[in-house]
Parts: sequence; C-alpha cells; structure tokens
Amino acid sequence: MNNFSVYNPTRIHFGHGQIARLADEIPAGARVMLVSGGGSIRRNGVHAEVMAALAGREVIEFAGVEANPEYETLLVAVAEGRCNGVDWILGVGGGSVLDAAKFIAAAILLPTDIDPWLIVGNRTSLAAALPIACVLTLPATGSESNFTSVITRRGTKDKISFKNPLVFPRCCVMDPAVCRSLPPRQLGNGLVDAFVHTTEQYLTYANDSRLQDRLAEGILQTLIEVAPPLLADPGDMAAAANFMWAANQAMFGLVGAGRPQDWTAHAISHELTALFGIDHGQTLALILPSLLEYGLAAKRERLAQYGRRVWGLSGEDEAVARAAINRTRDFFEACGVATRLADYGVDDADAAARAVQAQLQRHGRLALGERQNLTPADCAAIVRGAA
Ligand code: NZQ
Ligand code: ZN
Repeated sequence: MNNFSVYNPTRIHFGHGQIARLADEIPAGARVMLVSGGGSIRRNGVHAEVMAALAGREVIEFAGVEANPEYETLLVAVAEGRCNGVDWILGVGGGSVLDAAKFIAAAILLPTDIDPWLIVGNRTSLAAALPIACVLTLPATGSESNFTSVITRRGTKDKISFKNPLVFPRCCVMDPAVCRSLPPRQLGNGLVDAFVHTTEQYLTYANDSRLQDRLAEGILQTLIEVAPPLLADPGDMAAAANFMWAANQAMFGLVGAGRPQDWTAHAISHELTALFGIDHGQTLALILPSLLEYGLAAKRERLAQYGRRVWGLSGEDEAVARAAINRTRDFFEACGVATRLADYGVDDADAAARAVQAQLQRHGRLALGERQNLTPADCAAIVRGAA
C-alpha cells in the first residue's frame, strides 16, 4: 500500500426527511443562492421541502443549470450572486448542479481581474470560496461530498475539471426518496457512473491494499444487487438507500486511498460528451468494456480477482478476466445503458477516435492509465473498440 492522506470535511445527513436539517446548517440571516437544474426539483416536491427548511433566510434562485453545466450559464449566476451579495451557495440536484454550485462559490470570490475560466484545470489559485451546502437528487457522481467539479465550455468543446478543498460542501443531504422521480435513463447512468468510479480505482494492479479491494468489491456487488429492483421500481426505498450510499462511497476518498488509479475511461468520457453530447454515464458504458479489453494483458490479474470475487466466476485467470469483461458489458446493457457507439448515432468510430485523440492532445492528457503509459493514440484505439 502506498502512503496516503485522507481528508473529507463534508457532514452527511442521510435518510428520509433529512432535508429539514438544512435549517441547522445554513445560518439564519444567510443570503442563499439556491442553484438548480431544469425543473425536476419543482416537479418532485424537493424544492418545497428545501424552501421550508430555509424559512427566514433570503433566497436568491438560480435555476436552469444544464446537464454538463456550461460555463456561459454559470457566469450569469456569478454576476447575479455578486449583485445580490449572496454568502451561501445551496446546490439542489444531480452532479451537474452540484458541480455548478462549486464553480459559482469559487468564482464569486475570485478577484474581478482574473479570468474565471482559469479556475477549471486549476490554472489559478483560489484564496477563498463561499460555503456550499447541497441536496443530492441523483446518486452517481459523488459530487455531494468531494472537492471536484467538471465544467463545460460549449463554444470550444472543452469539458474540464478542477479540484480544490475550498469547494468541499460543508454539508450534504442524501434522501433516498428523491430517487422516486428518476427516469430510467438517469437511473441507468447513475448506476454505471458509480460502478466505473469504483473500477477506475480498483482495476489497476495489485499493491496489497486489502481493505480498499474489499471496499471496492462491496460497492460493486451492492450496485449489482440493487440495480434490478431499482430499475423495476425507483420507489423501492431500501434499494434506493443502498444505491445512494454505495455511489457516495465510491467517490468519498477511501476506495482509492493508497492505491494506483486509472481514470482513463473518465478522460475519454469527457471528450466524447464534449464532442457528441452523449451523457456522462453513457460514455462510460461505451468506454469501460473496450478499455478493459485493450488493457487485458496489463490488468489480467486484477480482472481475474474481480471476476472471482464480484461475479463468482472460476477458472484460469485469462478466461475469468475475459468473462468478467463480458459480465460488465452485460450489466451496463441490463441497466439500459448501451455500450456501442452506433447505439448513440456515432456510426463512424474511426472519425470519433481521431477526434478524441486530437482533444486529448489539445488538453495535454498525454500519459493516462495507472502506469501513465496510455497515449492519446491508445485512447483512440479504445474508442475504435467501442464500435
Ligand atoms: O436538471 P433537472 O431538471 O434537475 O434534471 C436532471 C437532469 O436532466 C435529472 N434529475 C436529477 N435528479 C432527478 C432528475 N430527474 C428526476 N428526478 C430526480 N430526482 O437528471 C438529469 C441529469 O442530471 P445531471 O446532474 O447532469 O446528472 P449526473 O448526476 O449524472 O451528473 C453528471 C455531471 O457530473 C459530472 C459529469 O461529468 C457531468 O457533468 N461528474 C462530476 C463528478 C464530480 N464532481 O466528482 C465526477 C463524475 O465522474 C462526473 O464527471
Ligand atoms: Zn463519473
């Protein structure tokens, strides 16, 4: 196991009815910017619950954050936040809204002579950010209790992350009842995203991190178990609670502590979303099986462990590794998330591969994978493998 430092200051309020706890977290008298998406929180009752918890505070609403939050939209939020003197940011939504909340919280306090686009890619240092609270409505990204945010600039097809401990949410509410209104597409995306967050930290190479291995295997098994009941009925509260917690723990910081990590699927995923508008979860379902096939020689031992412990397979390493990849693809398909480019209307896989390669080069993503030996050309081959 490698040396590591773990830090996670986000207080989690988990369970039904916990939205009311916002009243304990956000000071009376705060001027709160409530950031939300395209309207799901008004349709499913979450907005009303949040407003009840915020009684007595000044609330400035900023709705309309897109899936894959766009820089241009967020600049409007920043201007409104400054103009209204907001001093707390509350994100209520999925990963896109929560990532938007982080960007807004950082950008509002950025000196006005610094270009806010420099926040992404960590190209300017941050001295401060407004305090953030959040209410998660879509288990998937783990954004509710991590310090990452991914922002898209539509005009230039850039989808880039930043990380900064200043944007850790002070608190997050995770009420599994929000899953009741999730459409099958978002449920499937969330299951796949949480699954791939775990494999990115687990399917690398062994370094005797036994507890981390078993945390990863437990999360993967939990996702595999809860998927069928949830897809049949998103109102299954027991399944929703286990899904929400598993997705959170995949990105909480423990699974990957002291372990080599990969994250190639995510690097390719962001380029595919920026280029073709394919959902984050969908791009991962496309790329992970192909990435594992491409990297089978390097990952054989881990894939065999994954096949035996997670899927209950037996036999020689090579056969178990191949069968485990097939099981993974089948799982994604069973979640309703297709795994071939043509399923998303991308018929020219070679052109897509070349476009991804050029984007990765432009973004300086030149050495990916747990051994930093995957080039943009390797990534292009992985995209071709998703044809
Ligand atoms: O916009 P609204 O109306 O709220 O609808 C959303 C949106 O259309 C809907 N939705 C969310 N909760 C719902 C609901 N519909 C009904 N009932 C509910 N309870 O779902 C749609 C997708 O929402 P979005 O927030 O975009 O999905 P997700 O949570 O998958 O977030 C994806 C974004 O997070 C980034 C992705 O790259 C992408 O931009 N990620 C963030 C990470 C992080 N911060 O650590 C890590 C991830 O790997 C990922 O990159
Ligand atoms: Zn992800």
